[in-house]
Amino acid sequence: MSEMRILVTGSDGQLGKAFREVFANENSFEVHFATKAVCDITNFASIQSVVSAFNPHVVINCAAYTNVELAESESDLANDVNGYAVGKLAEICNSQGIYFVHFSTDYVFDGAQAKPYCEDAPTAPMNAYGKSKLLGEELALSVNPYSLIVRISWLFSLHGKNFLNTMRKLFEQGTEVRVVDDQVASPTYALVLASDIVSWMKRDATFGGGGLMHYSHNGITSWFGFAQEIKDCLASDVVLIATTTNSFKSAVTRPKFSKLENARFHKASGLQMISWQEAVSLCLKNI
Ligand SMILES: NC(=O)c1ccc[n+]([C@@H]2O[C@H](COP(=O)([O-])OP(=O)(O)OC[C@H]3O[C@@H](n4cnc5c(N)ncnc54)[C@H](OP(=O)(O)O)[C@@H]3O)[C@@H](O)[C@H]2O)c1
Repeated sequence: MSEMRILVTGSDGQLGKAFREVFANENSFEVHFATKAVCDITNFASIQSVVSAFNPHVVINCAAYTNVELAESESDLANDVNGYAVGKLAEICNSQGIYFVHFSTDYVFDGAQAKPYCEDAPTAPMNAYGKSKLLGEELALSVNPYSLIVRISWLFSLHGKNFLNTMRKLFEQGTEVRVVDDQVASPTYALVLASDIVSWMKRDATFGGGGLMHYSHNGITSWFGFAQEIKDCLASDVVLIATTTNSFKSAVTRPKFSKLENARFHKASGLQMISWQEAVSLCLKNI
């Protein structure tokens, strides 16, 4: 049987790099990694030409506008990248019989709920980034209902700009670090996420028919709890001080509680979900 061909868009981002790492250890796929320079997903001719040239069986879209603060003043760009371009990608995939995998966010919710969010919980994004990501989900599923849309929260890895890397830097620079303790969810290690998506794809490249799925590691924490775990794993002697969202100036409103219920993903994929603490420890062992 010929190898399955996979196209990864946005391949120089944090999650794109995690897929690079995972596919480097796989030999049953032919993978084409398309950076923004090669395939700008807002340029529909560019998508079409990369897709036609490579003729993939599956497109994994890691391209996104992810600057949550800047999205407030650049909402048109955020909507173009996270919304309309995602709809177009899904449509192109649908018309050519290509499976479409895409990632969305816990920020589609308003955080008012007191229990983990299931896939069918009502969405109510509080910021421009969340609105743009919801637009992408809706457009993709409307043109291609078999798309796999994986909502994730608090993505971290050793690559790029993320909370874990920010903490590592701050722990080296100072003796005291203030971290908010009143936003709660679950941190997600990009490498474990990418590995789980690939191992599911190896068994079933239609991902059980797709649709919306929430992916999270087991357990719940605040940014402060996440920082505490990083500090413990690194045996840092920095002093962490718990603080509130209101003490940080930000133009963006974020959900207070956005833990994603992972039962549907676990059942559909058959994969065991690890705890967020195990995920942090695995990541920091890779330094
Ligand atoms: N990071 C999180 O905490 C988090 C949480 C929930 C969900 N997510 C979702 O998870 C996915 C992966 O996030 P990530 O952390 O890997 O983001 P990231 O590190 O910002 O990577 C996104 C990549 O997309 C590229 N890109 C931007 N505009 C593009 C365009 N028009 N065409 C093609 N590529 C473009 C970026 O290039 P430039 O950097 O050159 O612009 C970057 O390489 C995204 O869908 C994101 O919304 C992330």
